[in-house]
Amino acid sequence: MASRILKHIKQLVNTREDTGPLYGGALSQLPRIDDAYLIIEDNEIAGYGKMSSLDKDHVQLPAAQEDCRGKLVLPCWCDSHTHLVFAGSRENEFVDRISGLSYAEIHARGGGILNTVRKVNETSEDELFQISWNRLQEVAALGTGAIEIKSGYGLTVDDELKMLRVIRKLAQRSSLSIRSTFLGAHTYPAAYRENHKAYIELIIRDMLPVIAKEKLADYIDVFCEKGFFSQQETETILRAGIGYGLKPKLHCNQLNSIGGIETGIKLDALSLDHLEAISEEDSRQLRNRNWKGLCTLLPTSAFFLGMPMPNARKLIDAGCAVALASDYNPGSSPSGNMNLVVSMGCLQMNLSPEEAVNAATINGAFAMGLGETCGSISIGKQANLIISLPIPSLAFMPYAFGANHIDKVMVRGEYLG
Ligand code: NIG
Ligand code: FE
Repeated sequence: MASRILKHIKQLVNTREDTGPLYGGALSQLPRIDDAYLIIEDNEIAGYGKMSSLDKDHVQLPAAQEDCRGKLVLPCWCDSHTHLVFAGSRENEFVDRISGLSYAEIHARGGGILNTVRKVNETSEDELFQISWNRLQEVAALGTGAIEIKSGYGLTVDDELKMLRVIRKLAQRSSLSIRSTFLGAHTYPAAYRENHKAYIELIIRDMLPVIAKEKLADYIDVFCEKGFFSQQETETILRAGIGYGLKPKLHCNQLNSIGGIETGIKLDALSLDHLEAISEEDSRQLRNRNWKGLCTLLPTSAFFLGMPMPNARKLIDAGCAVALASDYNPGSSPSGNMNLVVSMGCLQMNLSPEEAVNAATINGAFAMGLGETCGSISIGKQANLIISLPIPSLAFMPYAFGANHIDKVMVRGEYLG
């Protein structure tokens, strides 16, 4: 049995045995142990505590011992909202936006998401797998140990299935925990611009049955937004997905408030994502504590599009369970760096470092249905660990933004690279 002990850890972060999503004020509670040890057996966390009680707690110690003096050990980031499978890049639109065009205007001209759709349509499944695999290695080296990935750049039956098969292959080949979301309703493909009904029918009649039969997705997502999918269209598509056993995770209130929150709560969405534009009625809906889902905020996406940040403080005051994710995609967040996401959660949304770390670990895990196995230092959870370089404190990580503070990343008990 492969086992190992990390000793003299300066601080072991997010140690908890009783795990569930953290709502409201509970987000600020981040349990930590100074001068700690951590035992890993096979791929799981088998024990932890204070160095001073190690001899009392454990008679026999693993032969593989590692000294972590000066270093912090955290659970890996749990990135619960990404579009990591895509082809090409869109820096031309980035330049257009710098010179004044908005994201919505670029979309209305037939650019935006549809530019990436054209690229994905032209790319073979093998090639798409290879570029996505490289991105996955890149984010894993930055500390991401669990990740959700969406389709939504195919928008034909074959190409949506191609994307979902790429996600499945990533999940089969990688040690990271990967969840898959069907986002066929990301935008209307050019051919259906004037015939929404026909595209929705294509999703319901031709895509969903195959996805369900081949078990290609865990969740269903819709981009509920002006110029994309209306509240009514969103509800129709989500209900069809639910009929096939896919729980909703929703893009809503990114640019406008058009009822996505109400629909998501009514259909018991696992998460409502973005939430930059929130009305009084939306706030009232979100205070409904019968809904147990998460509010996933994407600070790098709002930053990149020059949008006002979501009001994280208001959501926390309303008792919501806030999660942070990268939204890694070529149009609104061409970065999957969760360290930057955590920094921006603090600097741009006034989250404390404790809240931001909880939002990017335990709440992120629950926002993709992985809360039982990932997201905290808990006995029996996967040994997914960030071992920091020697740093003065946890707050130093988001504070000294843009630099790498990670020494090593372990996923399921094995160091990467
Ligand atoms: O979450 N808003 C919709 N989807 C992505 C952007 C996709 C794109 O522009 O390619 C998002 O921001
Ligand atoms: Fe997104």
